[in-house]
Amino acid sequence: MPPTNEPAGQGGGDGWQPRWDGPVIVVEGVHKSFGDVHALRGIDLAVERGRVLGVLGPNGAGKTTAVKILTTLLRPDRGRALVEGRDVARSPAAVREIIGLAGQSTAIQEELTGRENLDIMGRLYHVGAATRRLRAEELLERFELQDAADRPAKGYSGGMQRRLDLALSLVAHPRVVFLDEPTTGLDPRSRMAMWDVIREMVGSGTTLLLTTQYLEEADALADEIVVIDRGLVIAAGTSQELKNRIGGDVLEFVVDRRRSAEAAQAVRGLSSTEPIVDAETGRVSLRVGTEGSQALVETVRRLDALGIHTEDLGIRRPSLDDVFLALTGHGAEDEENGAGSRRGKKARRRSDRRAS
Ligand SMILES: Nc1ncnc2c1ncn2[C@@H]1O[C@H](COP(=O)(O)OP(=O)(O)O)[C@@H](O)[C@H]1O
Ligand SMILES: [Mg+2]
Repeated sequence: MPPTNEPAGQGGGDGWQPRWDGPVIVVEGVHKSFGDVHALRGIDLAVERGRVLGVLGPNGAGKTTAVKILTTLLRPDRGRALVEGRDVARSPAAVREIIGLAGQSTAIQEELTGRENLDIMGRLYHVGAATRRLRAEELLERFELQDAADRPAKGYSGGMQRRLDLALSLVAHPRVVFLDEPTTGLDPRSRMAMWDVIREMVGSGTTLLLTTQYLEEADALADEIVVIDRGLVIAAGTSQELKNRIGGDVLEFVVDRRRSAEAAQAVRGLSSTEPIVDAETGRVSLRVGTEGSQALVETVRRLDALGIHTEDLGIRRPSLDDVFLALTGHGAEDEENGAGSRRGKKARRRSDRRAS
């Protein structure tokens, strides 16, 4: 069905009827450089209405640059980006009417209370006083901020600030929302709470583009994932497709290192790939695809039969590092110093991804 080019009317109101039938977010061949740093080197994206796109990539990959272009804060050097058919460079005001953004630098005014922050945001969008009060109440409740509503935001925990920031981006009922690393730096519990909030938001029909450094987060929230590295899309698909490409889940356990070779021998054949043994730590790992639970049960049985005691036995989801290793031959290293510069192991963050 060809998209109509008619704008869908004023954003921000209740009861909107979107008339845009094509992909809600489109990015075509977008380049962006800062001096000689090529942050984006020609990326393409498309998101259909009501869907969630996860843009997954390490620090410095170009995620924030892409979000800034889509939210009219930066102009692309080349290529184009459209939101509901509106060109972000040519019609920024029209785009701003229909989008919400919770970025890496927050929109919160720290001296003001949560409720005051929401009220000010409502004023910015010309929402009437009565509606503003209602909307603030509704958002405070939805984001579990009622108890803190009348305290200055500077006293909020990290998780509360992120929730308030997200609430602020929703004051005007945007149809399209951009979240730039919504849970980076949060502890596992706050991260889960944020995921619930995001899921609920998507359930109500919002189209969402979210960036993240966590494969687990993209997995939990996104319908489709694009992996970006040094300003290029290096893979795209559903979470399952990406995991299949990299060989799926990993079964791991630790045994007395003197028996690690024997243990590896015992689990050989549980998958089509060979077990990997770290003889120094006694850690044995095995790619088990999507057959993890069967492999787990069988591993316990076989090692028990040999009287080998295991520690830390479990199935590990692949991490962003695993994805990168499989796709590029290098890990998801920090590239903050610019495309092409490598800082080795500094930002390998496998461990923090396993926590949640
Ligand atoms: N305003 C800027 N000036 C110079 N370099 C920038 C600027 N913004 C981003 N960069 C560089 O562009 C690259 C991509 O950055 P960014 O989009 O912030 O990545 P990500 O959000 O994925 O961490 C990085 O090398 C970063 O240092
Ligand atoms: Mg960023």
